Amino acid sequence: MDVLTETAGLRDRLGTARCVLVPTMGALHEGHLSLVARGRDDARARGLPLAVSIFVNPAQFNDPADLRDYPRTLDADLGALREHGVDIAFVPDPEEVYPPDDPDAAPEPEVPPVGRLPGLEDRFRPGHFPGVCRVVSRLFDLCRPAAAVFGEKDWQQACVVASMCRQQGRDTEILLGATVREADGLAMSSRNTHLSPESRPKAAAIWQGFQAACRENTPEAAERVLVATMGSAGFEIEYATIRDAESLMPPAGEADRPLRVLAAGVLDGVRLLDNAPWPA
Ligand code: PAF
Repeated sequence: MDVLTETAGLRDRLGTARCVLVPTMGALHEGHLSLVARGRDDARARGLPLAVSIFVNPAQFNDPADLRDYPRTLDADLGALREHGVDIAFVPDPEEVYPPDDPDAAPEPEVPPVGRLPGLEDRFRPGHFPGVCRVVSRLFDLCRPAAAVFGEKDWQQACVVASMCRQQGRDTEILLGATVREADGLAMSSRNTHLSPESRPKAAAIWQGFQAACRENTPEAAERVLVATMGSAGFEIEYATIRDAESLMPPAGEADRPLRVLAAGVLDGVRLLDNAPWPA
């Protein structure tokens, strides 16, 4: 595995070849490694190298404390990527991604409607999707991936990236990796490490709420039971809602549109989010 920290080295390594890319912010857990495995299968099928980027993107954090506290585990991450058959690990410094002397290298792309209008992550993390769009655009310019893998766990992010690619006329195929869950249903996330031993069992209430929501027949009843389940576990709920799976706007009642249940909230100071198909 080549570990590259500079854009020039990445350009030399790839030459004119494309790749399959798995963008990450490191602190890799089983959830990320399942995305890497998905990327590896796709890369092998296409005969392309598999690249994984590790970059804690300052542009997508609206809270400086969150950026400061984001777990950083580079040595363990690189070990795991080696074991998972990754060809290129791209681990740039912020100056490589956002060169101070060349602001045109990483312009701020237009955020598509699905990243501005639903009132979900866009509402509770202002600046987040502009930062995600900026870094993903930059990584795609540098790596020219034929395909890139994003986790279903961050459903709105995956919708935003897919929509941005269409908007920008990119031919990168966006592949989705299924959410990996702990035994009690909690979606794996780097943030789970911040949960105290007392909070950790309560965090499964999001998944329990989704299961209860899937037993209801209307979006309104599903939302009520989800709010009640998360609320009684102690979540300060930001959103708990049924939405159109693609636009993420409230369902318009069309029978054949897939829907999704999405929730985010803060449990004992730790922000968690998750989503699932609705009904299951
Ligand atoms: O999902 C993440 O880890 C990040 O938002 C991403 C896609 C790597 C961009 O920084």
